[in-house]
Amino acid sequence: MPAAQRIGVVVGSLRRDSFNRRLAQALASMAPDGWALEIVEIRELPLYDQDDDGSPAEPVRRFKERIAGCRGVIFVTPEYNRSIPGVLKNALDHGSRPYGRGVWSGKPAGVLGISPGALGTALAQQHLRSVLASLAMPTLAQPEVYLQARDGFFAADGGIADDATRRLVQGWLDAFVAWVQQQADA
Ligand SMILES: Cc1cc2nc3c(=O)[nH]c(=O)nc-3n(C[C@H](O)[C@H](O)[C@H](O)COP(=O)(O)O)c2cc1C
Repeated sequence: MPAAQRIGVVVGSLRRDSFNRRLAQALASMAPDGWALEIVEIRELPLYDQDDDGSPAEPVRRFKERIAGCRGVIFVTPEYNRSIPGVLKNALDHGSRPYGRGVWSGKPAGVLGISPGALGTALAQQHLRSVLASLAMPTLAQPEVYLQARDGFFAADGGIADDATRRLVQGWLDAFVAWVQQQADA
């Protein structure tokens, strides 16, 4: 059997009980046959400093290698102050440098997020899309999914409890994977 094709998942929250990490984990358990979703951690990345471009720290090298080995990347992020968290922007900046040797360009991207607020990360997703455009990452335009974290959103087994919401997210993931495959075939 051929090895599963890897999709990297970058979570924009470092919080222990992060809803977005739980969503990323639920998503990983929903991967279609032949595909594996792997969380690529950003916690160990130092603050980006252009002076270090010539001698990147080990966590930066590891992060870039992991991303480079993925067929696509899904960003699962909270909204912080109507934008993306600084830790996610830091990871995006690391992956974009040194100039001409970034790992993002041309890699298909997907954007998801969950928030206790009713807007469900809509503004963070829009800001993220504009950053991804500047990184030359083609980004799945539709469907868009905005999720509100309510009590009982996640089932005891870590999956998404509500049937309709689970189908919505599964539909998004299936569309994303089919689109990544199309990009590769084009
Ligand atoms: C610094 C900060 C700013 C926040 N700003 C927003 C916001 O603009 N919109 C929103 O819906 N929630 C906002 N929140 C609440 C987050 O959605 C909430 O903390 C959420 O649980 C974070 O995602 P996580 O559970 O994956 O860590 C903010 C939280 C923090 C800590």
